[in-house]
Amino acid sequence: MILIENTVDKVRETVKNWKAQGLSVGLVPTMGYLHEGHQSLIERAVQENDRVVVSIFVNPIQFAPNEDLETYPRDLEKDSILCNDTGADLIFHPQPEEMYPNGFSTQVVMNNLTAELCGKTRPTHFSGVCTVVSKLFNIVAPNRAYFGEKDAQQLAIIKRMVKDLNFDIEIVGCPIVRESDGLAKSSRNTYLNEQERKAALILSKSILLGKEMAANGERSSAMIIKAMTDLINTEPLAKIDYVSIVNAETIEPIDTLCGEVLTAIAVYIGKTRLIDNFMISV
Ligand code: PAJ
Repeated sequence: MILIENTVDKVRETVKNWKAQGLSVGLVPTMGYLHEGHQSLIERAVQENDRVVVSIFVNPIQFAPNEDLETYPRDLEKDSILCNDTGADLIFHPQPEEMYPNGFSTQVVMNNLTAELCGKTRPTHFSGVCTVVSKLFNIVAPNRAYFGEKDAQQLAIIKRMVKDLNFDIEIVGCPIVRESDGLAKSSRNTYLNEQERKAALILSKSILLGKEMAANGERSSAMIIKAMTDLINTEPLAKIDYVSIVNAETIEPIDTLCGEVLTAIAVYIGKTRLIDNFMISV
């Protein structure tokens, strides 16, 4: 069965031994409660590296006080079976005190790329993500690290951070994995009751609509945003946080589709906030 380590020192020791043998290392950072989306990242990492570390850590500093830190789903046993069966070599599962011991005082803050999309309603979220991911990069020192396009703003921010702080790590983005009916897989989907689960389909439907409009030549952000917004508003259980079109690298809003374009949405279904997106190259 797969090795599970709880301490920074143990992980460092294991990775050091691998590196001494000339083996390459891939890292898949997660908050656990793993599903096929996470699994696709692990599979890719296993294909491209000699050894793969999966970190499972519900990072407290990326949750605001009003958010779901306490209720965030956890199942280490099931997660370790998935990691084992997918070919990962090591799970890093630290306790919060291991990552943030008494006196912890440093934050990695991203100035740009955080003003739009999720950064608007979650202003402290991305500094929490950048801080924990920097720590994981320093602890594991992987050759490559794998992130999902499901969290497209997070992926853009990590790529920027790696450039800015000179981490010698290749960042690999992986496509969104969906349920058979289109809903993007997410650990938070478990919060949805039966009625909400049906209502949640409005996210992927509106993504599909926006994608089709763009594919058919629509270049006005306003037109696409309006059509997607109108469609989401037909669902009584849905409440829009944002429907935005931005440059995929800088996360700056654009009026006309041009270059690498990210269309992203966040929608509350009942109390559960879900995100989805599509990227196109124009
Ligand atoms: P978490 O939400 O557990 O996601 C871990 C990784 O899995 C992220 O890179 C995310 O984009 C990817 N992922 C989630 N659902 C996916 C799907 N349906 N298809 C493809 N990839 C998917 O994102 C985080 O954790 C945290 O912010 C973290 C980076 C671990 C820092 O704490």
